[in-house]
Amino acid sequence: MIAAHDVELRAGPRLLLEQASFQVSAGDRVGLVGRNGAGKTTLLRVLAGEGQPAAGTVRVGGTVGYLPQDTRSGNLNALASDRILSARGLDEVLAGMRAAEKAMADPDPARRDAAVRDYGRLEERLSVLGGYAAEAEAASLAASLGLPGAVLGQPLRTLSGGQRRRVELARILFGGAGTLLLDEPTNHLDADSVRWLRDHLRGHRGGLIVVSHDTELLAALVTKVFHLDADRAALDIYNLGWRAYLDQREADARRRRRERVNAHRQAAALQAQADRMRAKATKAKAAQGMARRAERLLAGVTAERQPERVARLRFPEPAHCGKVPLAARGLSKSYGSLEVFTDVDLAVDRGARIVVLGLNGAGKTTLLRLLAGVEEPDTGEIRAGHGLRIGYYAQEHETLEAGRTVLEHMRSAAPDLSEAEQRTVLGSFLFSGDDVAKPAGVLSGGEKTRLALALLVVSGANVLLLDEPTNNLDPASRAEILSALRRFAGAIVLVTHDEGAVEALSPHRVLLLPDGVEDLWSAGLADLVALA
Ligand SMILES: Nc1ncnc2c1ncn2[C@@H]1O[C@H](COP(=O)(O)OP(=O)(O)OP(=O)(O)O)[C@@H](O)[C@H]1O
Ligand SMILES: [Mg+2]
Repeated sequence: MIAAHDVELRAGPRLLLEQASFQVSAGDRVGLVGRNGAGKTTLLRVLAGEGQPAAGTVRVGGTVGYLPQDTRSGNLNALASDRILSARGLDEVLAGMRAAEKAMADPDPARRDAAVRDYGRLEERLSVLGGYAAEAEAASLAASLGLPGAVLGQPLRTLSGGQRRRVELARILFGGAGTLLLDEPTNHLDADSVRWLRDHLRGHRGGLIVVSHDTELLAALVTKVFHLDADRAALDIYNLGWRAYLDQREADARRRRRERVNAHRQAAALQAQADRMRAKATKAKAAQGMARRAERLLAGVTAERQPERVARLRFPEPAHCGKVPLAARGLSKSYGSLEVFTDVDLAVDRGARIVVLGLNGAGKTTLLRLLAGVEEPDTGEIRAGHGLRIGYYAQEHETLEAGRTVLEHMRSAAPDLSEAEQRTVLGSFLFSGDDVAKPAGVLSGGEKTRLALALLVVSGANVLLLDEPTNNLDPASRAEILSALRRFAGAIVLVTHDEGAVEALSPHRVLLLPDGVEDLWSAGLADLVALA
């Protein structure tokens, strides 16, 4: 159970939320929505006890499982399976048992005896914690989220950003907390995993708050909607399912519009009357009262909501390049014993539109990293054609540096632009005024995506390598970015689970992983996208 009373949230100098009071009890499944940068993540952090509200109180009963939007797990040398098991404290017990097993071979008999005693004690502890069944349960959760057994045995360091996120999600679900706080849990999940997650969460007996831009998930899952309205710094609470919420919000907007029109009409009539009466000395006092009443009427209606701001994106003409700016031959890559793919060929022609499809773990992100030159292939070669300029959009915003500001990033991406021009580009990606002085580390998920894309825009790239570019974007920004991509004249290699994104791109060709087969795009492949 979570109860918030008069909570106020601030980010730097900005007020995000004022006087929000609500309660989330067992059985409540809340969808927390609002545009990029509204403060959803900030609110969730506070509820999870990782941040303090500027004012007000948050009371928490029972345990809380929190999946942050940006997962930066601590020890990257830990095994993926241990990370999941750590949610119930099982990882330490199992690590202790592994150490005791080793010590049983010690030449010193006293040490051997101690090891046997340790082992017994740890085994007892293991059975108290649910024992070996728990291990099996963790593995099955992981498998449902698209993490095969082989991946569980790897250290986190070797996992892709998407895989690490799935490990974190598995860990939270395995922990079995009473209240779950999930920030964009479906980022990087394939369609099967999303469906599984939806059903799993529908069966959750405790409370749940989920932040998501995935309207299908919300429609299937939530029983209440909290809308964080950035314009009013208010949390609107709807005790309704998703569809009813949409209707109600629409009706609310209509009512506010009507009230506004009426108030303006009444105020104008009052004002006109007041003006007429003011001419007569005997009625001056009454006239003043009327004018005041008109003012009060206008103050009482809520200001017209600003239409949701969206990025006005246009990619500049790409730098000139040869007929085949980028080609790869015989690429293979393995991590330890895990072979990701072997012998992949690919030719990216000027202006080509290529979609990379493949199941989770088939190596889509790895392929883009090889093409981008941030990672070396085990075999094969990447050939840069004449005039190649790559723009790489990384899945987890790896290209951004937390400590450097928005403007500093732009400065190094486009050193030839004047500061005024740099600010204009940033402005078209909705970074205005003070926003450009923010370090990248404090940006919201959607803001990071926008910054990373802005940096691509100014780079003059003629080959864009895009890894899930629509994750974290609110619907309005997503539409804007997709239509800009559609108009982009350079080549695009796209990895995505987003069917709409593929449709918007109208791809020419497809590369299927892990087989590395390249083919012409056909409509039948569209169904594969969400599965990929
Ligand atoms: N220390 C800080 N200084 C200035 N601004 C900050 C700071 N921390 C956060 N912000 C700003 O607060 C706002 C709210 O961020 P938050 O991450 O909560 O948004 P969000 O609703 O989760 O957005 P998204 O949908 O993009 O994930 C953002 O505009 C962010 O840039
Ligand atoms: Mg967020």
